[in-house]
Parts: sequence; C-alpha cells; structure tokens
Amino acid sequence: MNTSPPVRRQPGSPRLNTVSAERTNDASTQSQYQPYKEAAWGFINHWYPALFSEEIPEGHVEGIQICGVQIVLRRVHGKVLALKDQCVHRGVRLSAKPLCFNDKTITCWYHGFTYDLASGALTTIVGNPDDPLIGTTGLTTYPVEEIAGMVFVFVREDQYPDADVPPLAHDLPVRFPTSSERFPHPLWPAAPSLLDPAAVGLGIHRTGESNWRIACENGFDNAHILVHQDNTIVQALNWVLPLGIRPVSDDCITLIEDEDGPKGLMQWLFSDRWEAILENKELDVKVEGLNGRFYRTSCVLPGVLMVENWPEEHIVQYEWYVPITDDTYEYWEVLVKVCPTPAAREKFSYRFERVYKPLCLHGFNDCDLYAREAMQEFYADGTGWDNEQLVATDVSAITWRKVASRYNRGIAKPGKGVEGATKTSSIRLRRVAQGRKPGYFVEKIKD
Ligand code: FES
Ligand SMILES: [Fe+2]
Repeated sequence: MNTSPPVRRQPGSPRLNTVSAERTNDASTQSQYQPYKEAAWGFINHWYPALFSEEIPEGHVEGIQICGVQIVLRRVHGKVLALKDQCVHRGVRLSAKPLCFNDKTITCWYHGFTYDLASGALTTIVGNPDDPLIGTTGLTTYPVEEIAGMVFVFVREDQYPDADVPPLAHDLPVRFPTSSERFPHPLWPAAPSLLDPAAVGLGIHRTGESNWRIACENGFDNAHILVHQDNTIVQALNWVLPLGIRPVSDDCITLIEDEDGPKGLMQWLFSDRWEAILENKELDVKVEGLNGRFYRTSCVLPGVLMVENWPEEHIVQYEWYVPITDDTYEYWEVLVKVCPTPAAREKFSYRFERVYKPLCLHGFNDCDLYAREAMQEFYADGTGWDNEQLVATDVSAITWRKVASRYNRGIAKPGKGVEGATKTSSIRLRRVAQGRKPGYFVEKIKD
C-alpha cells in the first residue's frame, strides 16, 4: 500500500516564471490588472467590428449587441448609420421589427417614436405628433467606419463626446512596413493591414459561449498550440508546430503604447527570446513534421489579435472577441490580403472558400472555440482569476491584462435591460428550450 501523502492542489507560489522578478504574478502585479478583472462586459468607448459589408445591403436594418449595448444599423444611400437599439419610450428594440417611413429616420414599431438616423433625436411620434417630449430626447448614435468589406462601430457610453472619438487605426493592429524597423520580421513579408489600399478582408463570425477575456487570451497563448497538433491542415501540410513556446528572455514581449496609436503587446516568437519546445522526454513525445510554419502574434485593445504570416505568406489573420454579454462573445476571424486586381481578388476568394474557411477558420480554429468554452465554468463567477495557477508561458496573458487595464477607454457596465443581463429570464430560457441559442443578432419578430 502506498503510504505517501496524496498530492492535492496546493495554493500556488506567486512566481510566474524564472526569467526575472519583473514577471512575478504577485499581489502587486494582480492589482495592476484589477480593471481587467472587472471588465466582464468588455471595454467600452472602442471600435469593434459590427458586420461584414455584405450583411447589410442598401436599405437593410440589422440589430446586434456589443458590450451589453444594443445597436441598430441601417444602410441608406450607401452609408451605414448606427443608433442605440433601445427605444426611449418603453425599451423595445427598433430592429426587432424595422419600420422606416423615409431615408432619414427609423420608427419604433410599437408606439411610433421616430428618430433621426444621423442625430438620434426624437423627431416625432407617429400618433402623437405634438407631444412635448419631442425634440427633448433621443438615442445615442455610434460613429461608423467601413473598410475592406467590414463595418466598424465605435461603441460608446451615452455621454462620450464626439470630439474624443479616436481614429479606427487606434483600435487596429500595428501597420507594416512603417513598423518594420521597430518589429523586424526577417522570416516573412510585411503583414498587410485592413487599412492598406486594395486590402480585402474575408472571414466569418460566430457566437462563442464564454467570456470574451478568456477567448482573447487563448488567441496569443503560446502553450496552447498543443490543441492544434491533430488538425487536418497541420497534418496535411506537415507543419512543424512546437509543443509549446516558452519565454527565455526578459524582453520576450514588447508593449505597444504609442500615444497616437494602438495599445497592446507584440510577442517576439521564433526569435532567440522564445524557445520552441519540440520534445518532452518524460512523456517521450516529439514533434514530427517537416515544414516550418513561422508566425508572430500581437494583441491590441479592445482585444484584436494579429497573426502575421498566417495561414500563408502575404496573408494576416485578425481576430476579435467582441463581448456580447459577460458569457457570450462574437468570434471574428478575418484573413486580410492586398489584392490589387480583380483577378487577385478572385484568386484569394477562391482559396478562401476552398482552403482557408474549411481548414483554418473552421478546422484549426474550431479547437480554439471549444478550448475557450471549456474554461468558461471556471471563470464564470469571477473567482477563476484568483484560483488559476499560472506558469512561465502565461507571461503573455499577464502582460496583456496589465496593458489592457492601463489603456482601456472605459469598462462596460453590466447590460441594462438587454438580452443576457438576466441569465434566468423566462424569454432566454424559452429560446434555449426551443433550440435557439442566445446570440449576437436581434431576433426579428415575425408578423
Ligand atoms: S416602446 Fe418604442 S414607441 Fe413605445
Ligand atoms: Fe489556437
């Protein structure tokens, strides 16, 4: 009989890794990311992707939810406009049953409160046109930018001033070749950007059932590539994916904190600052594969991942983990390539449909989706942040939490009167019972 005491989970030592004391995840470090721990509903006053351009054709009205804020979008004369999707009268969503009498307004289908699309002002009430409330109130508007086939919305608090709205570029990854000197990349060509002329963004978005933060941290977690070993594309192309990549230098991560640009971090993967682990002797596990697949990850606020040189040269993968509620997020996976001619565009689109979408954005990244959902119960009540036992490779998440805490433009409050704010609402439960998942889009009322 074995008489040695059983091994049980012990309270961890606060040391994060052996590189340097600066990387210790002690109480003082944790206090530096307290704001992040409070950001269950996301960071507000940031730019987020809302829809692909093709999802909102001329005249169309769509309703979505970001950071617990319901937003209605309408395209008029080519331009997309966005308003808070919560009628000031009794709080219903305008997008649930779109009613537009002209190209300047949107009307609530319930009692006819009518709002100017550009200013959000309450301009009339269909059956009560002289009411003194008219002209005194309205809905918050959200700035919109449309680039490379994507519609972005600046999701803000009601009182956030127009004058303080930053350019979209401040909430997108760093650009190349302007950043090439600072972040040299000898192994691959300069990563394209959505902001480049002739950039094309092709991708998908879908709802994941976990908090956005654990989804985001998975995106640049250098130990998690283990989950991808069996993926079809990895096996089919004989890619060498390390078992993990561990930090071996104090400057393994550089903060991105220019005053006039995005805020986040860049990881120096596949350089001498990180060591790719190809073997675990204890387990007799070795990486097989012939073709190096070099990439680099960075992440900037409000949670935008950039994977350079992925899944092939001249392509970059962007990901967003857009908070919907505190337990759902919209997972955006977008591949960006500069396509200067219609033929180049056609070719990219063909390869997207045949290879990238099925084998990478699904296939490969489906593993990420289930790994994030597997963490959800542990973090759901907020205690996971205190109970996790982190190791050296988690330096990436710790650094991100700190930089995000420091530079976010606001912590979203728990959604008020929105879907998902009350977990046990009878409507939510009915939907689930009927096999309809809580999600990103408004549920339209059928006549
Ligand atoms: S709830 Fe919108 S008009 Fe009454
Ligand atoms: Fe992954």
